[in-house]
Amino acid sequence: MSYPNDFLWGVSTAAAQIEGGAADDGRSPSLWDKFAAEKKVMNANRFPTACDSYHRFPRDLENLKALGVNSYRMSVSWSRVLPEGTGKLNEKGVGYYRRVFESLLEAGIKPNVTLYHWDLPQCLEERGGWANRDCIEWFGEYSEKMFRLYSDIVPYFATVNEPIATYVGYAKGSFAPGHRDEKLGNQARHNLLVAHGRAVEAFRASASPSSKIGIVIDVWKRYPKIPTEKNMEAVRDEDERNWKFYTDPVLGKGYSDYILSALSREGTLMEIGERDYSLMRQKLDFFGLNVYNRVLVDKDKSAKKRLLQGGNIQEAAGGVYHKAVYDVVKMLRGMYDLRIPILITENGKGNYVFEPRLGKTVRDNGRIEYLKGFLHWMEKANDEGLNIAGYYAWSLMDNIEWSAGTMVKYGLIRTNFRTFETAWKKSAYFYRDYIAAHRCGG
Ligand code: NOJ
Repeated sequence: MSYPNDFLWGVSTAAAQIEGGAADDGRSPSLWDKFAAEKKVMNANRFPTACDSYHRFPRDLENLKALGVNSYRMSVSWSRVLPEGTGKLNEKGVGYYRRVFESLLEAGIKPNVTLYHWDLPQCLEERGGWANRDCIEWFGEYSEKMFRLYSDIVPYFATVNEPIATYVGYAKGSFAPGHRDEKLGNQARHNLLVAHGRAVEAFRASASPSSKIGIVIDVWKRYPKIPTEKNMEAVRDEDERNWKFYTDPVLGKGYSDYILSALSREGTLMEIGERDYSLMRQKLDFFGLNVYNRVLVDKDKSAKKRLLQGGNIQEAAGGVYHKAVYDVVKMLRGMYDLRIPILITENGKGNYVFEPRLGKTVRDNGRIEYLKGFLHWMEKANDEGLNIAGYYAWSLMDNIEWSAGTMVKYGLIRTNFRTFETAWKKSAYFYRDYIAAHRCGG
């Protein structure tokens, strides 16, 4: 089949992972800058410079143009535009994003902009961060400012990316800000979902009607390794905690009885305000789905696996299950009677440290196989009318893979973190050719 002309073919990045320029032009630190400064991540010294996109956006733009994408998913660094978290805008930061969005549009590339990709200003963390309900208003103010500034030139906004990361940061400690408190984690992730709703409300009141809004949630669907009763129970439990916690309230069902009673039994139930359910359940223009693989549940190993939640660990124990994209889209459509377009906002393969090279070119054949498999099942889903409206590969280039620093590489393009030169991997050529063959009804 061929894809419609307006199908979005893109690549994704996030501010904290690529920008660098951590202290430049009035930007204040985010909680990830602090986490890195405390050496709680690998290659902490790379965080302040990352891929240096803050100074080298023209390099990124050239790569995007050469790939032939018609959309670029990126995020805004809250502490670059609002160094105090709220209040006064930083004109230099604001100008940077305006230039980026305008040059993308000039090149025929539609910006798809996430407002919160895990990088809360550290000054707000010091006031309690996401565990403090005031964060809902802080985020509302920031979002509204972004809509007023940019919604005339940004056709797609996402409020938050992978809300599970906030839980990991407040309950499990392996992400910034590094707290280890279940109840705090539940409160933080709940507040984040309410903040999402608050931002959508602000969008409807202040954004240009030409712009659209959604959210990005990662779904790592559980499957039993063997369908024993124990495994089936574990599948249910892990599905509830790892992705239904987010999709249920956002897509209109409210928290499930299962999760509410599990958390209250465990003494970790968050406080839920009266208006919270209606705020979380906003009408959206699209749903952003990050899908990387499924997770096979084997009860004997489930204790270990729980430590790995957070969305960015490739669950490879059972191999890669390309059909995940088809299964999950079909499941969500049915479960929530979800009719809005679904964008695959992330899909990609991480390689640990070394990737085989021939001369300058990384021979990442495994990544090509991975992408081919997912693209095949995405096409099949659309043939069956499941209405996937866009696909973004993660990621444009190797970048800071959060706690794993530069040790895990997801890029289609290689980044030299000392010189900031980039070099195309084999997978970049593959994706360029794939887009060319499928774009505009090709
Ligand atoms: C999840 C996150 O959204 C992104 O920041 C991360 O780098 C990728 N997926 C890969 O783990």
